[in-house]
Amino acid sequence: MMKLVDGFGRTIRYVRLSVTDRCDFRCVYCMAEDMTFLPRAQVLTLEEIATLSQAFIDLGVEKIRLTGGEPLVRSGIGSLVEQIGQMDGLRDFAMTTNGAGLDKHAQRLRDGGLQRLNISLDTLVPERFRRLTRTGELEKVLTGIRAAQSAGFERIKLNAVILQGRNDDEVLDLVEFARREHLDISFIEEMPLGQDIEHNRAETFCSSDTVREIVESRHALLPTTESTLGPSRYYRMNDSDTRIGFISPHSHNFCDACNRVRVTVEGRLLLCLGNEHSVDLRAVMRRHPGDQGRLQQAIIDAMALKPERHHFTTDGEEQVVRFMNMTGG
Ligand code: GTP
Ligand code: 5AD
Ligand code: SF4
Repeated sequence: MMKLVDGFGRTIRYVRLSVTDRCDFRCVYCMAEDMTFLPRAQVLTLEEIATLSQAFIDLGVEKIRLTGGEPLVRSGIGSLVEQIGQMDGLRDFAMTTNGAGLDKHAQRLRDGGLQRLNISLDTLVPERFRRLTRTGELEKVLTGIRAAQSAGFERIKLNAVILQGRNDDEVLDLVEFARREHLDISFIEEMPLGQDIEHNRAETFCSSDTVREIVESRHALLPTTESTLGPSRYYRMNDSDTRIGFISPHSHNFCDACNRVRVTVEGRLLLCLGNEHSVDLRAVMRRHPGDQGRLQQAIIDAMALKPERHHFTTDGEEQVVRFMNMTGG
């Protein structure tokens, strides 16, 4: 079996595929209010996304996560999940979603072979939810979470980006919600992708250590070595099945153990979330349709471009201009 290994000896087993740059929300840390989205011709077709998935699996990738934008606004997402769900060799097939479309889609995703869902939820207060997402409705997401549970998804995980002055007073409430609903939860440090003039990151940054102290004021946290191949460090509480994860790109760099690459909705293979090194896989597929060997070779060659680490700061320096919705994080 072929393997993907980068110039620092890291094996790539995890690919994040962005299936659309569009979203029905406009979260302040992810997008500007008036975004222009890509024209259809620049976006990978569903067939191209399936072709890429197969190429990565043939190169030893064990985990595929579909991201966006919001993956559930892509038309045909159900049939894409069914196609990838049938491919042999995947150990984990997951999606990150804002949850608003799950009421409609959860059952088909589950039946199509999707194994895991991460659902973004930063606040349990309806007006705040509206302000953070600009267009989202909390109730719809809560309905979506219930639909995913009824559809049979297990170990659903919430993702909460904690921002000082906006939702840092809700850490314990979010933990209580997760405990009650038997969900896992990851707390995420905000990353500087894209620049929105209305949102000043230096003012809102909240480190994982701060969030952990808040959780520990109520619950003893026991470290675990459990891993989902993602960047979260997990803890358990002794009286609950909920796992609490911390994703800390700023305060606890995890690049040494990086095992992942991502593909943008335009088919650019991005070697790191934190910079712009990329290879145009869409061009390879459109120039040589059906040539899996050539596609695989382009992916193998790209590994030499993977940088050792990101250089994010919290003060606005070293900004990546691309907004989060091009890669889904
Ligand atoms: P699991 O498979 O459940 O572990 O999920 P995940 O954490 O891999 O994926 P998810 O889409 O839930 O991402 C959660 C957060 O982690 C998002 O804010 C992502 O941007 C961030 N993230 C994921 N991979 C990386 C990475 O390689 N580098 C950085 N800096 N952030 C990442
Ligand atoms: N920093 C950290 N996380 C972000 N997300 C979106 N934008 C950012 C950002 N700038 C999160 C979303 C979602 C996940 C894919 O990435 O909340 O849960
Ligand atoms: Fe949409 Fe997710 Fe970005 Fe919010 S963070 S605007 S839900 S893609």
